[in-house]
Amino acid sequence: MGTSLKIAEPLHASGVNAYDINAIRADFPILSRTVYGKPLVFLDSGASAQKPRQVIDRMKDLLEQDYANVHRGLHYLSGAATDAYEGARERVRQFINAASVEEVVFTKNATEGINLVAASYGRRFLGEGDEVVISAMEHHANIVPWQLLRDEKGIVLKIAPIDEDGNFLIDAFAELLSPRTKLVAVTHISNVLGTVVPVRQVIDLAHARGVPVLLDGSQAAVHMPVDMQALDVDFYAFTGHKLYGPSGIGVLYAKREHLDAMPPYQGGGDMIRSVSFEKTVFNDLPYKFEAGTPPIMEAVGLAAAIDYVQGIGHDLIGRHEAELLAYATERLGEVPGLTIHGQAQDKASIVSFTLDCAHPHDVATIVDRKGVAVRAGHHCAEPLMDRLELPGTVRASFGLYNTKAEVDILADALMNVRALFA
Ligand code: ALA
Repeated sequence: MGTSLKIAEPLHASGVNAYDINAIRADFPILSRTVYGKPLVFLDSGASAQKPRQVIDRMKDLLEQDYANVHRGLHYLSGAATDAYEGARERVRQFINAASVEEVVFTKNATEGINLVAASYGRRFLGEGDEVVISAMEHHANIVPWQLLRDEKGIVLKIAPIDEDGNFLIDAFAELLSPRTKLVAVTHISNVLGTVVPVRQVIDLAHARGVPVLLDGSQAAVHMPVDMQALDVDFYAFTGHKLYGPSGIGVLYAKREHLDAMPPYQGGGDMIRSVSFEKTVFNDLPYKFEAGTPPIMEAVGLAAAIDYVQGIGHDLIGRHEAELLAYATERLGEVPGLTIHGQAQDKASIVSFTLDCAHPHDVATIVDRKGVAVRAGHHCAEPLMDRLELPGTVRASFGLYNTKAEVDILADALMNVRALFA
């Protein structure tokens, strides 16, 4: 049973230690297509990454061979699907080094993970006047759930500032912590600026005051190893689709002591042990937080994506992406009238910029005709745009499959924009 999940095989086609970019690109079928008759240059992995055939095949195999509902049936296929689904949870546990699979809750995405914490932990443990510290560069997913809680319970949101380069100001953050601080909820890596937040210091400062910490790891889980036990973080949310896995699957890691104390987030099947009209006894962790039929195929796809990323190795991917970031920063810096927003000391391979001659939406539309996919707009971070006094930016976000030649195509396309507008 559960043959569709094989643990920790190096799935990257070359299976070698060198960074074989051609072999890696060959793993991603979509990268060989053209758009408008031009080779696709996909620089929007920060929004959603493309999928290697290893992920596609694993999901297809499950659907063709081992699919049924999980945790419910006594028949063979239900057992096989349950093994695959729970095997995926164990794979995630290894990936983030959680102490136990009971601390790994499958969600729809990172947004749902944060909403789960706000709705369950927040409603139970936060009250009027209690303070939640977020940062100036949060995604809406780590702002709005706390605003909903503010409107319901009267909590107070405090905003940790950044400097002009997008650096997280750790001293200013420390000054925001007060006897009323009940939670810190910050991003690990900014989806707009690429800033890597000094989460070690954030967690140490918060824990010194007995304050739990939630990290939005949507971007970080893609670009760096994340270790729950080493971080000693209380809550960590990330999503599958940015990690070369499918959409519809995310992960909320939470320390067992918190999950034990938190009420269920949603009611329904799977999260119960027994139900009568008088009373419901809730299921064990992590099922208490997984109401309804879960994303079975998606969890298996996420495990395959983790196998894929770890088969190449975060070290090699990190080195490759750092080279791309340095090259992109240099090449885009040569485009007249271009300003890069976000030059933090510690930065992931995300480059946001504006051109003085054209609106970000126009820039993105024009480079799209050259086959270059970038995101433009506020990137679900409107308060950050207000802070930077910008209507939006263009964002090129690089993944493990991008090349310097693609950076050159972007730079040339931007020169074309200048020729049209300047
Ligand atoms: N959060 C995703 C992004 O940054 C959608 O683009």
